[in-house]
Amino acid sequence: MHTAHGETALATMNFQPLLDEINDEIRPLLGQRGTVASYIPALARVPAAQFGIALRTCQGEEAQAGDAATPFSIQSVSKLFTLTLAMRHMGDTLWERIGREPSGNPFNSLVQLESEHGQPRNPFINAGAIAVADRLLSRGDAKAELLALMESLCGEPVAFDAEVAASEAATGYRNYALANFMKSFGKLDNDVQAVLDMYFHQCALRMSCVQLARAAGFLCRDGAHPRRGEAAITTERHARRINALMLTCGTYDAAGDVAFSIGLPCKSGVGGGIVAVVPDRLTLCVWSPALDATGNSLLGMKALELFVAKTGLSIF
Ligand code: DON
Repeated sequence: MHTAHGETALATMNFQPLLDEINDEIRPLLGQRGTVASYIPALARVPAAQFGIALRTCQGEEAQAGDAATPFSIQSVSKLFTLTLAMRHMGDTLWERIGREPSGNPFNSLVQLESEHGQPRNPFINAGAIAVADRLLSRGDAKAELLALMESLCGEPVAFDAEVAASEAATGYRNYALANFMKSFGKLDNDVQAVLDMYFHQCALRMSCVQLARAAGFLCRDGAHPRRGEAAITTERHARRINALMLTCGTYDAAGDVAFSIGLPCKSGVGGGIVAVVPDRLTLCVWSPALDATGNSLLGMKALELFVAKTGLSIF
């Protein structure tokens, strides 16, 4: 869509038939490959054969197909929103605690933390998001602040799934290890238990594709609130930087492959959700619970590939 003609075609594009088409192509593949995250017991019970897709344009048009209205555990997609809050509070001083480099390792890996003195590589791996949660706790009631942000973005109530949060608290051994390790290097200011309580709750937010496509809307609008007339969520500079981090770090050790085959900033979660941004155009959310070996939704990625192939929308 690089020509003047293409631009016009896109501006008038009716996305609903396109999402219906993608849904029709994905549904026969449901349940064939991938596995639902099993290391969090409450997630292991989610039926794998589900798929949803929703988008919202910068102009506020929406389209959805499949199980787009079904709420799911947003897991690491929440890291987008906590990062947004921390950047708002701390500006560039945030980067004194957290890096901006892809890790090239699984999202819950411990290996780099030791050689890098407890400084997480980026805010989207678990260690980085735990460090962000610590920064938010130092500012006040982080859970209430996050819920208020999500409700403002979605324009409707959003809740934590208490069962998922409890399930993570009971079994999140790696996250305890990461947090204790960072604490030992003096990289967390708050009590480890309190930091992880925030982290487990943010991961346990329950939202649908429709809600997440709306909520991420500020990322395709240079930080402006997805609803006209409301105060900006973040600055243009911060919105651009969050997009850059999504592209380089948003899908962990699959980020290179995702940039290569999809070419959009994406943030995934082990609940099977993926948010993707087409800057200045739209935000998209896909969801299907069965994951690949890197912890990204298998059919979610396939749906994003189809979307990019059918629309020509990519940042490259
Ligand atoms: O801490 C965990 O392991 C999960 N609550 C979140 C991990 C996650 O979603 C990583 N994404 N692919």
